[in-house]
Amino acid sequence: MSQKKKKSKFAEKIEKLRKSVIFQAVLLGAFTLVASTMLSTSDLETRDAIKLRAEEDLKASIEQVVSLDLHDNDLLKSIMYLAGEDEELTTVYQATKGGVVTALAFTVSSYGYGGKITAIMALDAVGKVLGVRVLSHTETPGLGDKIEIQKDDWVLSFNGLSLGMPSEDKWAVKKDGGRFDEFSGATITPRAVVKAVKSGLMFFARHKEKLLTPLRAKKEEAAK
Ligand SMILES: Cc1cc2nc3c(=O)[nH]c(=O)nc-3n(C[C@H](O)[C@H](O)[C@H](O)COP(=O)(O)O)c2cc1C
Repeated sequence: MSQKKKKSKFAEKIEKLRKSVIFQAVLLGAFTLVASTMLSTSDLETRDAIKLRAEEDLKASIEQVVSLDLHDNDLLKSIMYLAGEDEELTTVYQATKGGVVTALAFTVSSYGYGGKITAIMALDAVGKVLGVRVLSHTETPGLGDKIEIQKDDWVLSFNGLSLGMPSEDKWAVKKDGGRFDEFSGATITPRAVVKAVKSGLMFFARHKEKLLTPLRAKKEEAAK
C-alpha cells in the first residue's frame, strides 16, 4: 500500500471518530468540566474578597453612628440576634467600654415610595439616638433621596431623641401631626424613615434588659 493511501485511510478513521456521537459527547463533557472548574475556582477566589469588602462597608456604616471613643471592643464580633417586630431576627452590634454597654447599633427598615428603605441606627444605653444613616433605598432622585446624609442633613434630626422625647405620638412627619419635616412634594419617604426609626426605639424598649447586658457577662453566665 502506498504512503498516500495509508494516510488517507488514517484521515478517514479520524474523520469517522470526529463525527461519532461518543466523541462529540466526550468533547462536550471535557469542555464542561474545564469551564465548571474555572468557574468554581474563580468563585472561591472572589468569595473571600466579597465577604471582606462587605464587612468593611458594614464597619464603616456602624462607625458613622457609633463613634470610636464610645467603645473598646470589636463591634463586628459583639453580635446578638433578637426578634424584631416581624419576628425576623435583628442583628445587634453591642458597643462596650471597660465592660460597660455604651451603645447598640442595628438595622431597621420600612417601605417608602420606591421600595424597601434600610437604615442603621445607634442608641446609647438610655435609648437616645446617637445617629441614623440610610444604607439602601430606591426612592426617587431629587425627591425622596434627601434621606441620604450625602444629599441633606434631614437624617440628623433624629440625633439626641428618644421614645419619650418627643412623646410617642410625635414620632411622625409634621403633615401627620408629628415633629419631623417632610420634603416638599415627598411625604412618603420621610414618613417611612420616621416609622423605621420609631420601630427601632420600640425594639430597644422591648429588649432593653438583654441589650444592656454585656455579651462577655452573658458568655460567663452560660459557662457556669
Ligand atoms: C414620578 C414620581 C416619583 C415620586 N417619588 C417620590 C418619592 O421618592 N418619595 C415620596 O415621598 N414621594 C414621591 N412622589 C410623590 C408621592 O406620590 C406623593 O404625592 C407625596 O409623597 C405626598 O404624599 P402624601 O400625599 O401622603 O403627603 C413621587 C411622585 C411621582 C409622580
